[in-house]
Amino acid sequence: MTYAHITGWGMAVPERVLTNQDLEKMVDTSDEWIISRTGIKERRIASDNETTASLAIQAALKALKVSNITPAEVELIIVATSSPEYIFPATASIVQDQLGAVRAGAFDILAACSGFIYALNMATQAIRSGSAQNALVIGSETLSRIVDWTDRNTCVLFGDGAGAFILQAGEQRAGLLSATMRSDGSGGDLLWLPGGGSRFPTSADTVNQGLHFVKMNGREVFRFATRVMVKSTQEVVRKAQLSMDDIDVVIPHQANKRIIESAIRSLNIPMDRCVLNIDRFGNTSTASIPIATCEAIAEGRLNPGDHTVFVGFGAGLTWGAAVVRWSGPFPGLYVMRPPVYHFYARIRSILKRILRKIDAIIWGRYHPDN
Ligand code: COA
Repeated sequence: MTYAHITGWGMAVPERVLTNQDLEKMVDTSDEWIISRTGIKERRIASDNETTASLAIQAALKALKVSNITPAEVELIIVATSSPEYIFPATASIVQDQLGAVRAGAFDILAACSGFIYALNMATQAIRSGSAQNALVIGSETLSRIVDWTDRNTCVLFGDGAGAFILQAGEQRAGLLSATMRSDGSGGDLLWLPGGGSRFPTSADTVNQGLHFVKMNGREVFRFATRVMVKSTQEVVRKAQLSMDDIDVVIPHQANKRIIESAIRSLNIPMDRCVLNIDRFGNTSTASIPIATCEAIAEGRLNPGDHTVFVGFGAGLTWGAAVVRWSGPFPGLYVMRPPVYHFYARIRSILKRILRKIDAIIWGRYHPDN
């Protein structure tokens, strides 16, 4: 039987830090309120030249280095994001081009903050069915670009960052052992970004009404989140034929410390088995679980053979969870140089664009606007 081992991981966060004290100068809030209601002390904010794709690429390069596979070997790239580079093309295609992953199929998943768990499950299924030998799964966000910085209900919560996993086919029982993905679209307007789609196409009116920013009913999302985190964790642990005592580490979506503590308490899991880094990064949506995983590994909290639960929820409404048996990288054959591959891929991409233009000029298809 084939399993999808997680053999590489990497994270990338912007350098710029926005503290609660900085926010006190921007909106009517206080450090004390934000810490006591959310657990957040600071978050990272992308600089002008950082985007969802650029953070995704940085995280992916680190994951490739850990896993010892070259970009040219990658067969599938899935980017989960709520703040894509464009509506289309997919952010995953930009990542594919800039990594030089010339054999990979690439697409985005939009399941909001649950997106990384959805993407991990989809990539696992592709590997287990034999349609791909490996996959690059990324959660990446620049939520600072879609947050209304005058709305204290939302702007204190979110941050930017990216995390990536490499999955590879292996025979030993490891990787994703069970998963659940759920949705309740009746709660779509509890957390949404209404403007810019086909329902409210961009116009002067949508801009004036602030429809291109995140809108949220915090209290309702809070109630929903605590309920589904408990239920979905119990479901995946049962499906993996394990008990809560077998779970070494829980890595929840970092949306609110109080939501996490309430869920962990209801599950009767000691708090020291739960990874929490919301104080330093805020809610980075799809990136929060892989970033927390990278930190847990760096701190020696997640080791081969350990069982971990990933659990998350978000707009949609969506929610999901997975039980993962941790393994580690396969032995590598080559010296990996991801930055060199990235440099070469960028040159190749520019050359391909130039050649495409020359081809169009020669064959009379060239138009300066296209
Ligand atoms: N600073 C100070 N006061 C604030 C504030 C801020 N940043 N944001 C809201 N308030 C005020 C509200 O206006 C309200 O004032 P009022 O009683 O005069 O109307 C008061 O604080 C209490 O608001 P309430 O919404 O009841 O607070 P809360 O304890 O529910 O905390 C959230 C608000 C947003 C932190 C909390 O509801 C939450 O985290 N919900 C889940 C959100 C989430 O996880 N979203 C992402 C999902 S992936």
